[in-house]
Amino acid sequence: MARKTAQLDSELHEYLVEHGTQPDEVQRELIAETERQFPDRARMRISPEQGSLLTLLTKIARTRFAVEVGTFTGYSALAVARGLDEHGRLLCCDTSTEYTAIAHDHWERAGVRHLIDLRLGSAIETLSALPEQPSIDLAFIDADKTEYVDYWEEIVVRTRPGGLILVDNVLAGGHVVGPDYGDADIRAIRAFNEHALHDERVELTMLPVGDGLTLARRR
Ligand SMILES: C[S@@+](CC[C@H](N)C(=O)[O-])C[C@H]1O[C@@H](n2cnc3c(N)ncnc32)[C@H](O)[C@@H]1O
Repeated sequence: MARKTAQLDSELHEYLVEHGTQPDEVQRELIAETERQFPDRARMRISPEQGSLLTLLTKIARTRFAVEVGTFTGYSALAVARGLDEHGRLLCCDTSTEYTAIAHDHWERAGVRHLIDLRLGSAIETLSALPEQPSIDLAFIDADKTEYVDYWEEIVVRTRPGGLILVDNVLAGGHVVGPDYGDADIRAIRAFNEHALHDERVELTMLPVGDGLTLARRR
């Protein structure tokens, strides 16, 4: 099959990032604060180009109810919150008070704090406690890779027809192809990708943005 996706060297990647909507002041501060407080873990945050894509997709899906699994310091949640419809709300799942303290602060500054309901605890418990009705317009999955299939199963049944489900890190740093090194996260991502591919409730595509983003639409 002919390959049309450009190979991005750092110069081309920089060009691509520069030619999309740029992070605003609060988003730039959030990035800086995350790097200051968690220098070893800051790379868990989605990239700015993924952030602008999330905002666009949230707007396109006319999102009134969004769900995020894996909030960290709040960058991706802020991107979703910025795209919500009037009266829209975002439910965020995370286990860490330490990470999400940064999120609270910056959501407040961005004027979106009142739109976000942060639930601390196991995401599976939070999701399974939601009513089993198709109320989700957009979901973003970015927490424990070994639980991706479980998050997916809780979310798909609650997503309205036409609603979007986005899943991060589906290329696992490129390790979804090639030898199996026995890494639990990589195995889990490989298994998740097969699971989603064979799920007839959705149509989907995998975007080579960041570490790979699956974009699924509930039939
Ligand atoms: C990759 S980070 C999320 C990054 C975030 N989406 C962003 O762009 O800034 C993963 C997050 O998932 C959270 N997490 C891990 N396991 C979890 C679980 N079982 N339930 C809820 N959150 C979990 C971690 O605390 C961490 O903040």
